Amino acid sequence: MRILITKGRIVTSVGEQIADLLVVDGKIAAIGNQLEANAETTINAQGMLVLPGGIDPHVHLHLPTPAGFSSDDFHSGSIAALMGGTTTIIDFVTPSRGQSMVEALKARLDEAACSLVDYTFHVSPIEWNKNTPKEIEECIEMGFPSFKVYMAYKSSVGIDDNALYHVMHTVAQNGGMVTAHCEMGDDIDTLRDFYASQGLTAPKYHMLSRPPRFEALAVKRAIDLADQTQCPLYIVHVSAAESVKHIIQAQKSGQPLYAETCPQYLLLDEALYDSSLPEAIKYVISPPLRQSIDRDTLWNAINNGNILTVGTDHCPFSLEQKMVGKDDFRKIPNGAGGIEHRLALLYTFGALTGKLSLSKLVDVFATQPAKIFGLYPQKGELAIGADADIVIWNPNVKGSISSSKHHSKSDISIYEGFETTGEVAFVIKNGIIAVDNGKLSENLPSGQLLKRRSTKTTGHYYKRMDNSGSYNCGRV
Ligand code: URP
Ligand code: ZN
Ligand code: ZN
Repeated sequence: MRILITKGRIVTSVGEQIADLLVVDGKIAAIGNQLEANAETTINAQGMLVLPGGIDPHVHLHLPTPAGFSSDDFHSGSIAALMGGTTTIIDFVTPSRGQSMVEALKARLDEAACSLVDYTFHVSPIEWNKNTPKEIEECIEMGFPSFKVYMAYKSSVGIDDNALYHVMHTVAQNGGMVTAHCEMGDDIDTLRDFYASQGLTAPKYHMLSRPPRFEALAVKRAIDLADQTQCPLYIVHVSAAESVKHIIQAQKSGQPLYAETCPQYLLLDEALYDSSLPEAIKYVISPPLRQSIDRDTLWNAINNGNILTVGTDHCPFSLEQKMVGKDDFRKIPNGAGGIEHRLALLYTFGALTGKLSLSKLVDVFATQPAKIFGLYPQKGELAIGADADIVIWNPNVKGSISSSKHHSKSDISIYEGFETTGEVAFVIKNGIIAVDNGKLSENLPSGQLLKRRSTKTTGHYYKRMDNSGSYNCGRV
């Protein structure tokens, strides 16, 4: 199957050109001018942007919680991903207490088989026991070298510093990376229970019990432990300016440290928790929304290369599920959707406002997630030999976000009413047209399970760098 994309503005993380791009049998076969191709399909991309398919490094599909599963399974979540220009996702394997990570990973592979985008997993050690080191080793051998730890949620999946130390040490020894949800779990629990005991149970107290300081303290702690254990560390969903200070300081000292933020922390304000019910409940996510100083700091950190990726933390629930906690914010399932809107939001509120160059957009949207998580250069790049995962973005149309038209199964959206510019015209995934003129193609094949390379081969292993000059964060 040959697809020729003509006259598009091809944007990569390092530059751009107007050129043709030829796809042959699932791979990018040529990029150049006036390519002669004998293609079965030709797409005229004049006036459009041609970008690498997005890689969302942080999504929670079919996540079990006490309020039921998150709204999207791998099928609906992957349709939403495709419709927004994302062709690869990294989800999570979360064992139940006492279950081995390898067993949980195998079960998760079955659940994900209906995905239409390519997929892989971070695996979560939710406890430290005598089998954990062997399980970590086995997961890495199986092609899953990143491990997600939670410093919050102590009553369910969170681990203490002692366990975190051992996890980091073992992961580092075996060529893996730790990714961390950084919030001081015990301090949060104390504050949550205190507010509840005073009858302060509205959604706003979710935010007030998770102040920026609790995130920053946990970020600092995780950085210190990663340094002690010589473990490469990726901090997920950074929301607070105070956290960014610690991240910059560690990176300047030469520690291999990678950080992610999400569109919700770049765009939404904590004042939304002052809305009345049910509106306020939609925004109960962890960490919570912050203030404009935090958002400005996050945009700057992206531009300075201190924050390298923008994931979505897609974890939507229905309004009914959220309303379980209308009288007690502690019962509200944490999370919100966004997998479909990452590109539109970054383009409209980043590229078009001058906050992001197009190359930086591509970098945080696709290239850096691929590099950091061992998928590069197969994924995240427009280059000869790479997988033909391609988004053709029409920058000339206006749109708006609404739960009435998004593809997630959730009936709410934290971006409801947002006006956006640009939309996905075509998505090519592994050489197949998955979105055709804005419409999902029929009979799409399943996505592929991606086994990933360990940090030993990606170069993202622990090595102190001389950062006296410009900071490069161990990028390869
Ligand atoms: O509120 C959130 N972010 N829910 C999903 C789980 C997590 O903490 O990433
Ligand atoms: Zn988290
Ligand atoms: Zn998450």
